[in-house]
Amino acid sequence: MKNLLSIHDLGKAGIIDVMNVAESFAEVERRTMKKVPALKGKVVATLFFEESTRTRLSFETAAKRLSADVLSLSVASSSVKKGESLKDTLKTIESLGIDAVIIRHRSSGAPLQASRWLDDIAVINAGDGWHEHPSQGLLDAFTVRQAWAEDAGVKPIDTGAELFAGKRIVIVGDIAHSRVARSETLAYKALGADVVLCAPQTLLPSDTSSWGVEVTHDLDAELEQADLISVLRLQAERGSGECVPSLREFNADFAMTTTRLRALKPGARVTHPGPMVRGVEIASEVADDPRCLVTTQVTNGVAVRMAVLYLLLTGGNQGLEGVGQ
Ligand code: CP
Repeated sequence: MKNLLSIHDLGKAGIIDVMNVAESFAEVERRTMKKVPALKGKVVATLFFEESTRTRLSFETAAKRLSADVLSLSVASSSVKKGESLKDTLKTIESLGIDAVIIRHRSSGAPLQASRWLDDIAVINAGDGWHEHPSQGLLDAFTVRQAWAEDAGVKPIDTGAELFAGKRIVIVGDIAHSRVARSETLAYKALGADVVLCAPQTLLPSDTSSWGVEVTHDLDAELEQADLISVLRLQAERGSGECVPSLREFNADFAMTTTRLRALKPGARVTHPGPMVRGVEIASEVADDPRCLVTTQVTNGVAVRMAVLYLLLTGGNQGLEGVGQ
């Protein structure tokens, strides 16, 4: 595959491939010397038209750990502000001889369009509008597999997708505006889990009948059955405030509170892609509880994004034996 635009393009085998390669890079991450020469001589550019902390830092860290050179375009101080188009900005980057561009954009489909304009450059979607955030979906699945493998006393890499079979995953919060919800749903379903979307009607997409998921408005009824609760924040920047009567009501019905944490079945986990808004969709005590994997997700983001860059830029045909040399 040349680009990473959607989880849909990977399918089950592609997702497992990324997770397995990421396991090797997670091992590299645990070493004192974390840098490997796998992408020496390659140039990776980050082009973020929307704010980011985790995705940008972790893609840039991943590229540097693989010995690639990293160009980071600050859109706020670039010629985009003088009216330069996305196409001209991308063509300028292409002229600099880069190998991969990592794009976050407020418009759904911007990375796909970029991939049509750029012939010889790998395009990676770092979040496009309400559409998808594929590397987040991958790192969330990777983190959950790791946790379940540890519970089962097995190595994640030996399990493929088997630990997802029959698991019940509840994604709760602002589904309508969430690109993470779309990527997680595609990833978890491809791996064999049952996905439940939980939100007020006003925060559900209109087309969930085609998602192959269950839909509920009753989070409390899910707590004793769920193996994983994936908590999403209200996307105020996309107008979610107009979809709930008040933050207090949203919190009362759809937030992961300490009371709800106590009601989870033994072994159940909580994830959050970040950024978290403590006290709104997740209580501070839940965010800091060992069952909440939020910091592990951020840590794993580097290994998973190393795997994505490595697979796209080498085709994976260098062999992983060499990555630590
Ligand atoms: N999860 C996520 O995309 O976080 P950032 O917006 O900080 O990159």
